[in-house]
Amino acid sequence: MRIRQGMYRRGCIMPDRFCRYKGARRSVQMGLNMSMNLEQAREKLEHYGQQHLLRYYEELSEEQKEGLLAQIEAADMSVPQACKNREALAQKGVITPLASMQLPEIEANRESFTATGLEAIRAGKVGAVLLAGGMGTRLGSDDPKGMYNVGLTRELYIFECLVNNLMEVVRLSGTWLQLFVMTSDKNHEATVRFLKEHDYFGYRAEYVHFFMQEMAAATDYEGKIYLEEKGKLSTSPNGNGGWFISLKKAGLLDFVQQQGIEWLNVFAVDNVLQRIADPCFVGAVIQRDCGVGAKVVRKNAPDEKVGVVCLEDGRPSIVEYYELTEELMTARDESGDPAYYFGVILNYLFRVSELVEILEKKLPLHIVEKKIPYLNEEGVQVKPEEPNGYKYENLVLDMIHQMKNCLPFEVVREKEFAPIKNKTGIDSVESARELLKQNGVEL
Ligand code: UTP
Repeated sequence: MRIRQGMYRRGCIMPDRFCRYKGARRSVQMGLNMSMNLEQAREKLEHYGQQHLLRYYEELSEEQKEGLLAQIEAADMSVPQACKNREALAQKGVITPLASMQLPEIEANRESFTATGLEAIRAGKVGAVLLAGGMGTRLGSDDPKGMYNVGLTRELYIFECLVNNLMEVVRLSGTWLQLFVMTSDKNHEATVRFLKEHDYFGYRAEYVHFFMQEMAAATDYEGKIYLEEKGKLSTSPNGNGGWFISLKKAGLLDFVQQQGIEWLNVFAVDNVLQRIADPCFVGAVIQRDCGVGAKVVRKNAPDEKVGVVCLEDGRPSIVEYYELTEELMTARDESGDPAYYFGVILNYLFRVSELVEILEKKLPLHIVEKKIPYLNEEGVQVKPEEPNGYKYENLVLDMIHQMKNCLPFEVVREKEFAPIKNKTGIDSVESARELLKQNGVEL
């Protein structure tokens, strides 16, 4: 197989030494709540060629000045530099097939897997993590994606669909599972308010815990950070890969460990057919003694836009659809079946103790072209119609590569995969409604 290893392979970017900035950092640690001063901010910005961020400083109120300096202090400005090495960042190791556990094997063992899974759930060893920090830009709603109403003759929100699915396991096991909900600065308040207003759609409030993910600065194509307002850097959520670090920063890892939770089922907000803490899946991962399990579906075309499971340099990994070469798309395994034909659906079961081991490891950076609202030369806010720069993200799928072994677990796509990315067309509100109906959900 192809593929060179580059200097920036798997996102080896130097840490931002200014993040631990002298006096300013000390005052934060001492609880004085003071950010870096103007002089220190200038020094940091000059170091990274981002001096333009102070362009309107003198026009700001004292409070805005303080806010801007705090943002400059917190921003890891080594990250935008990575856009100069985009190609090197995308390089992969040696890719070989990783066999999935397929439906016939699962059916043959369903009873035993389910019994093992239910035992773990009843012992309180399984928790669920809802990734709901994304911006959902493709769907084009200003509200958090989970607030989208997919109902036709009644209200049926995406969050509600997910809770309904989780409740099936609660009923089956007779056990409430701890549910951790990741939000971001952009949607936290709205998400918490909405779920509270709807009484968590019947889920017990004491089992729901919110935590916020980090934000990352967005830049133009040269890596210059945009200003969103005169006193505010343009930022967006830093991808779903930071979920475990953010969970820890929120103090919830201690809670997870105190509760004796050994497995966390991480899932996306936008798959309304998502099975959460599926006992059969949980049991299979436990019985096969894997660090992580990944629900996968058979692709519906060689070029379907889903990441595929594989081995990379002998460790489990996921190759994104845009990284899949023609050669990989058409490759066959030893039995003559397509070698890279199982796509991930963003439903992973992680062993907590292995996640703790990889806490310090950096994830590779993904640089994504996006439409980024910004202040133009005249200081006027612009909402661009076309992409105008980059967002910088870590992805949960890259955590798979850091785990020792992975069980790809096949599920029937018509029963478990109805992602809502767009309003119409592929992976849309329309297609998800059809699938919900097929599965007997009244709309
Ligand atoms: P997507 O990759 O589909 O991104 O997220 P998105 O932000 O929801 O949608 P677009 O690309 O802007 O249209 C997959 C899952 O990861 C979560 C999302 O909420 C969704 O559940 N996610 C994504 C986060 O929690 N944080 C992020 O920073 C990005």
